[in-house]
Amino acid sequence: MARGAILVAGGAGYIGSHVCKALAAEGYLPVTLDDLSSGHARAVQWGPLVRADIADADAVARTVKAHDVVGVLHFAAKSLVGESMRDPLKYFRENVGKGVAFLEALQAARVSNILFSSTAAVYGNPARPTSISEDDPIRPISPYGASKLAFEEALRGATRASGGRCAVLRYFNAAGADSDGDLGEDHDPETHLIPLIVRASRAETPPLTVFGEDYETRDGTPIRDYVHVEDLAAAHLLVLDQLVRGETDLVLNAGAGKGVTVREVLKAAQDCLGRPIPTVTGARREGDPPMLVANISRLAALGWAPRKTLQDMISSAALWREKTTRVVPT
Ligand SMILES: NC(=O)c1ccc[n+]([C@@H]2O[C@H](COP(=O)([O-])OP(=O)(O)OC[C@H]3O[C@@H](n4cnc5c(N)ncnc54)[C@H](O)[C@@H]3O)[C@@H](O)[C@H]2O)c1
Repeated sequence: MARGAILVAGGAGYIGSHVCKALAAEGYLPVTLDDLSSGHARAVQWGPLVRADIADADAVARTVKAHDVVGVLHFAAKSLVGESMRDPLKYFRENVGKGVAFLEALQAARVSNILFSSTAAVYGNPARPTSISEDDPIRPISPYGASKLAFEEALRGATRASGGRCAVLRYFNAAGADSDGDLGEDHDPETHLIPLIVRASRAETPPLTVFGEDYETRDGTPIRDYVHVEDLAAAHLLVLDQLVRGETDLVLNAGAGKGVTVREVLKAAQDCLGRPIPTVTGARREGDPPMLVANISRLAALGWAPRKTLQDMISSAALWREKTTRVVPT
């Protein structure tokens, strides 16, 4: 059943491309708007790709007009915490400045139903880090987190004023790859733990650096909440459905609700891949809190539950790496 087009800003990226696949499976046409600054044209497989910057108002207007756009998913952003510490203005320019220009173009085109990809980084160093809920204090400690929060606020304000509808998903750590092997995580530079573990296990890179083993956690390494990218994609479909039904102003954490240390991920990877993962210990990274685990009861109340395990995330990421680096004999 055709359900209309969804404009997917950043649909050539890691999470966006998996969500496009899930949208197509549900009868939507995903229309990707992406400048390919960190995404890949080959990841756009379920609908058209418009290669443009989100701040290009003409391209946004043309794309909305050309399709029956019933909603917008906004993934397009710069998202390297470390880079944001070194170059904060880039993050405000890219994530806030361009985001606001995008919103203006969407408002001019009278598009409602906007779902924004925010982040656990908005919580900063939270007081209750083992069960962070959406109403907890918001105090980002990196310009990246601050820029995502600023856009959240711009989106809420603009939506209230215009009578549109919006939702914010605050992702914790997305991981894993498409179970059919069509898509995976392919960042350059890669800063996420699981793809880095996979590369180190295949001796593609030097030993993996564990940034800080002196945190006050059960084994000294930071605790994060990993959620499979396919579970995350399912959450987008659910939230989009809420918007289409008339809900608005939703803010929802998206994690698995379980905290795992870096050393525990390494152990799981070693068991799953059957290979040792060489590591070295490095200094803590600025802007890296010791512990971030989501309380996911709000998303669960909509009927969502994470279905995939940490092992699924590791094995699918490894399969994807295997597939994309395989040398085809001539
Ligand atoms: N990956 C995670 O674990 C995670 C965690 C929390 C939040 N997020 C957020 O989720 C979103 C997606 O993350 P991802 O890991 O898929 O990132 P990604 O870099 O793989 O995807 C982002 C996509 O947006 C595109 N893009 C960036 N700036 C653009 C612009 N100005 N105009 C048009 N296209 C642009 C890129 O080319 C890329 O295809 C980001 O907003 C990120 O902040 C990700």
